[in-house]
Amino acid sequence: MPLVSMNEFLPRAKANKFAVGQFNMNNLEFAQATVEAAMEENSPFIYGVSEGALKYMGIEFTVAMAEAAAKKSGLPIALHLDHGSSFEVAMKCIRAGFSSVMFDGSHYGLEENIALTKEVVKAARAMGVSVEGELGTIGGVEDDLSVDEEDATLAKPEEAIRFYEETGVDCLAIAVGTAHGMYKGEPKIHYDIIQKVADAIPVPVVLHGGSGVPDEAIRLSIQAGVGKINVNTENQVACTNAIREVLGANAEVFDPRKYLTPARSAMKAVIQEKIRLFGSNNQA
Ligand code: 13P
Repeated sequence: MPLVSMNEFLPRAKANKFAVGQFNMNNLEFAQATVEAAMEENSPFIYGVSEGALKYMGIEFTVAMAEAAAKKSGLPIALHLDHGSSFEVAMKCIRAGFSSVMFDGSHYGLEENIALTKEVVKAARAMGVSVEGELGTIGGVEDDLSVDEEDATLAKPEEAIRFYEETGVDCLAIAVGTAHGMYKGEPKIHYDIIQKVADAIPVPVVLHGGSGVPDEAIRLSIQAGVGKINVNTENQVACTNAIREVLGANAEVFDPRKYLTPARSAMKAVIQEKIRLFGSNNQA
C-alpha cells in the first residue's frame, strides 16, 4: 500500500471515538519498532518527522523508510511533517513524498497564522496531502523548538473554531495543557477546551506531548474529541534506557546491533501499549 493522507483514517477516528498515534521517527529503529507494533495490532498510524529529525535522517532516507514500512505492512500509514515552520519546508516534504504536513504558525498572531496555514492547505489539498494546523502554544522542548511553560498559552475555543472554518485543516492541534517532553508532575489537561472545539468542528483535535500523560487522561481526552495523539519522548527514553542497560552490563560490546535490538524491542512494547490505549487496534 502507498503512504496515505490522514484523511484515510482520521474521520473514522473522530466518528468512532478512537485516536490514531503519531509516533515520531528518529532513525531506522524507530521506523521499524513502530511498523512492527502496528502490524501486531492491525492499526493505522502516522510517522511524525520533525525538521530536526529530517536533517538527521535526510529526506530521501526518511521517505524510503516510510514507504518500505507501508509496502511491507499493507497498513494505512501517513508520513507527516511535524511542526513545519514554513510553506517552503512543507512543499519540499510533499515533493519528496510526504503524504501529510503540519504547518505550525502558532508563534504568529491569529490573523497571520490563519493566512499562512490557508496557503499550505490550498497547495497540499491539490496534491491529496492532509494538513494539521496549530493554535495556542504548547510548552516544553521538541528538537530545536523550546517554549517556556510560562509562555505556553492555552487555545481559546472561539479562535480555534474560527481558525478551522477559515483554513479548512484536516486536524487541529490546540494547546490544552500538555507539553513536549516528560512531565515533572501531572499535566492539567483542559478537557472543556477540547470538548468545545471538537463539538463545533468536523475534524479531530490533536493532542501533542503525549509522553507521560496518565492513561485515564488519555481516555478522557479521546472522549472529549481528540483523534490524533503525538508520542516521541517516551520512545526516546525507552530506546536510550535499553541501550544504557546493555552497555552498562557489558563494556566489551561494540556491535551496534547488540544494543539496538533491545532498544527497538523496548520501543515496540511502548508503541503497542499506546495503540491499545488509543483504541486504534484493529482499525486498519
Ligand atoms: P512528546 O515528545 O512529549 O511525546 O511530544 C511529541 C509531540 O507532540 C510531537 O509533536
